[in-house]
Amino acid sequence: MADKVVKSSIYDCSIVHLPKVHNRTGNITALENEKTIPFKVKRVYYLYDVPGGAERGGHAHRKLQQFIISASGAFDVLLDDGLNKKLVRLDRPHIGLHIVPGIWREILDFSSGAICLVLASENYEENDYIRDYEHFKQFRADTGSSDI
Ligand code: TYD
Repeated sequence: MADKVVKSSIYDCSIVHLPKVHNRTGNITALENEKTIPFKVKRVYYLYDVPGGAERGGHAHRKLQQFIISASGAFDVLLDDGLNKKLVRLDRPHIGLHIVPGIWREILDFSSGAICLVLASENYEENDYIRDYEHFKQFRADTGSSDI
């Protein structure tokens, strides 16, 4: 049986200012599990060569947490908990966006050459995805806590 968890909201998602070591020859930002990243990273992937006008990532996750960084360039992340929506522009490699489970997210308005780096708390598991927005709305509409 699935775990009972309290439903998340977009206000549980947060912008994280990452440490930056700066000198004349450039910057370095280091990420560490359960310190800079608020969970244990199991998987890293990145989106690149995204054509102009493309929208990626229209889905929610039941359990997976993610931490998104613009490694290069800029893009918007749309967060949606079924009630509230928020658009976050990521355009600096020292800014991260932590997204909790149960949030619909889309990634859009990529600048040319942008690289969207995603750190995930779980391995790739198709069963963890909610890919259909109507299904997502139904999942969010369930009262109280939900089996996610
Ligand atoms: P998907 O998560 O649907 O990307 P987006 O929502 O940004 O469009 O993944 C697209 C394809 O890539 C899908 O066929 C599954 C595959 N994929 C993997 O094999 N491993 C991964 O870690 C990810 C994120 C995707």
